[in-house]
Amino acid sequence: MIQPGKTIGVLGGGQLGRMFAHAAERLGYRVHIYEPMADGPAGEVSAREVNQSYTNVEALTAFVRDCDVVTYEFENIPVEPLWKIENLVPLHPHWSVLETCQNRMREKTWLRKNGFPHVPFAEVEAGDDLAAAIRRVGLPCVVKTADFGYDGKGQIKVSDEASLAKAVAAFARQRCVIEKFIDFKCELSVLVARGSTGEVKVFPVAENIHTRHILDFSIVPARVPDAVRTEAEKLGLAIVEKLNVVGLLAIELFLTDRGEILVNELAPRPHNSGHWSLDACATSQFEQHVRAVCGLPLGDVSILSPSVMVNILGDAWKWQGEELVGDANWAAILAHPRAKLHLYGKKEPRLGRKMGHFTVTAATADAALDLARELKARL
Ligand SMILES: Nc1ncnc2c1ncn2[C@@H]1O[C@H](COP(=O)(O)OP(=O)(O)O)[C@@H](O)[C@H]1O
Ligand SMILES: [Mg+2]
Repeated sequence: MIQPGKTIGVLGGGQLGRMFAHAAERLGYRVHIYEPMADGPAGEVSAREVNQSYTNVEALTAFVRDCDVVTYEFENIPVEPLWKIENLVPLHPHWSVLETCQNRMREKTWLRKNGFPHVPFAEVEAGDDLAAAIRRVGLPCVVKTADFGYDGKGQIKVSDEASLAKAVAAFARQRCVIEKFIDFKCELSVLVARGSTGEVKVFPVAENIHTRHILDFSIVPARVPDAVRTEAEKLGLAIVEKLNVVGLLAIELFLTDRGEILVNELAPRPHNSGHWSLDACATSQFEQHVRAVCGLPLGDVSILSPSVMVNILGDAWKWQGEELVGDANWAAILAHPRAKLHLYGKKEPRLGRKMGHFTVTAATADAALDLARELKARL
């Protein structure tokens, strides 16, 4: 057990690291952040921040020598440098988990190999005939680069000849996966924590609404039949065991019209769709991640109230065309007795950039969603 008072190193310095640092510091840990860019959201609230490249093994080695355990909050960290620190300090989840999850091709191949339900896909190597591969899968489909995708970046939906040409122009020289377009009923996510002792806890399943590929609303509890919830939880537990995760694993799912659950993506870290847990759960996902990587007993994951989380993008600020002309109407959220505002301290709002979120609670998930939409409109 890594006792409170010890030092946790975090690779990555964004908002997930910031909220992780808050949770760790409440339990008496010191947090050190390793992040290439200065002045990030996490470094600002942590005991120490090192700004070096992820591939600088010397700097990374010096960083981990001061830590008692290391984790990460960002998926696109190269794994090779992590091999070199493996014997210096416990790293959770293990780098092999990161390696599987950070590349769509490896992730989807892993799901297929282990018999987990996933979105059917075709693999395309750099230089292969992408147009022919797209035609083989059939339209509509989604072309996604194997590496570095997030918030809809690195993917194009192909539904006609024009979008096919666009996808070929953008991605022909990269490794890609082509997925069937799934006309899903809704999107769900399940977050599972597994401690170094093997103890596991599953957070209540969330229902997620994306707008332009970016998470917009997370609704808890998900408005799906109990059987779907139970199956999603079982699937989550099975994946976490098979991947041998210590820490948190977020699993994004599609629920199809036929009631099938398909895995879309895996993320070995706290996840945007779990932010509601800060305000509406006995234990937040961030605290759970601290507990899991430090070998503490895991916390209770009971829902305290139905709730909805709303992402706040830079778009919420006042813009005239491309020009920023004013702040968002924070008072609309702050004045409401059932709303909680979280801002990440990012210096510069930009369109499409995640700047914060707010959570509302209500008697039912539907009522929470109505209130969330109302407050979002007033923001
Ligand atoms: N095969 C698909 N069929 C239908 N919608 C999809 C498909 N793949 C992705 N999407 C939509 O795009 C969103 C983002 O895609 P995702 O694969 O999760 O990538 P990322 O979150 O890394 O950008 C999904 O949450 C979903 O709304
Ligand atoms: Mg996703």
